[in-house]
Amino acid sequence: MNASRVADGIFRLSANIGSEILFEGMWLLPHGASMNSYLVKGEQAAIIDGVCDWDGVPETLYAQLDEVGMNVSDIRYVIINHTEPDHTGWLRSFSALTGDFEVLITARGLELAKAFYDLEVPFRVVKSGDSVDLGGGRQLVFEEIPNVHWPDTMVTFEPATGTLFSCDAFGTFGAINGAPYDEQLDEMQLRFFEKEALRYYANIVARFSQPTLAAIAKVRKLPVRIIAPGHGPVWRRNPEFIIDLYERLAGYGKGPAKPKVTLLWGSMYGNTEKTVAPLLEGLAAEGVESAVHQVPQTHIGTILASAWESTGIALAMPTYEYQMFPPMAAVLDELGRKQVRNKLALRVGSFGWSGGAQRELEEIVARQKMHWQFLEPVEFRGAPAAEELELIRRRARELARQVKAAALA
Ligand code: FEO
Repeated sequence: MNASRVADGIFRLSANIGSEILFEGMWLLPHGASMNSYLVKGEQAAIIDGVCDWDGVPETLYAQLDEVGMNVSDIRYVIINHTEPDHTGWLRSFSALTGDFEVLITARGLELAKAFYDLEVPFRVVKSGDSVDLGGGRQLVFEEIPNVHWPDTMVTFEPATGTLFSCDAFGTFGAINGAPYDEQLDEMQLRFFEKEALRYYANIVARFSQPTLAAIAKVRKLPVRIIAPGHGPVWRRNPEFIIDLYERLAGYGKGPAKPKVTLLWGSMYGNTEKTVAPLLEGLAAEGVESAVHQVPQTHIGTILASAWESTGIALAMPTYEYQMFPPMAAVLDELGRKQVRNKLALRVGSFGWSGGAQRELEEIVARQKMHWQFLEPVEFRGAPAAEELELIRRRARELARQVKAAALA
């Protein structure tokens, strides 16, 4: 990676992580991810959200400082927008190399930094409205946006260029090789980062949708011309694109999303699998988009992204030992934890000795406060009869009609 110029006196310093890494130890990165840090030069220099290779080695960052003619010892301020180790893991190395600097951080961030790093460095606590003057007409102004995604999160705004260093807000997955600015992206690349934003949002930010909406309201009051996030492209031709996208995604937590149904299915002996075709036929008959994911074969990160942007969820799973097919129970529990709420839903499936899947489904949905509104389920013993498959087709069609009515209202 090379350093690049974001605006007058502002540089992006970045590293990519590859698909061999599980983000946060669990999320697949089929297309990798970029980690962005920013250098702001006035008479004094500040670095915002350092980056390090995944094993904590910040050599990439130091090499890029070199490219823009700076030494580690030229950095006067380190701005911690949030304390998550992908952006702060380099602090120990940095503080061993230089001494004359201050770390600007929120009060909550200070607690976390001390717990994670036990560093003896000069911290200065900042809060919303505080600023630091770098000289030469450069100021950095801070605004707290707690819980997007850590409790200590803030954004940093540079008024002369209108650059918002937005931390995890407005981030995307997807490694970036060579074209880090939105005006360099063609239509296909733009669609790619839109999808990677959905995956990033659903996996990392979804649980914090209310704080995200509050943060967007704050951001909209600032004269923002450039969005410079911690992950993903820098938006300087059309920052509204990513702000609007995030607003839409955060809104999906409260109510209807796209006119789309995510079908999740798992089957032990192939009996519940027989319901997949009629479910899809029913959805298609109403012209509703669907995405199909087999459980447990599909990674939960992919399922979350699909479910988050769907207004409807169709579940096909059997009973297993008096309860729900266990991998589906795990998926539903994770959907609940990520607050995939207010969906229209249908459940179908087979049982052999007794029922039990439906009881566990109701328990999970209630415990996780998911507020899913279900059509009457279709359960059958052993293999489905022709009339049961026809009933499933009709129920799927009814789900599709409800999804269209809700999403297009
Ligand atoms: Fe770069 Fe909350 O992460």
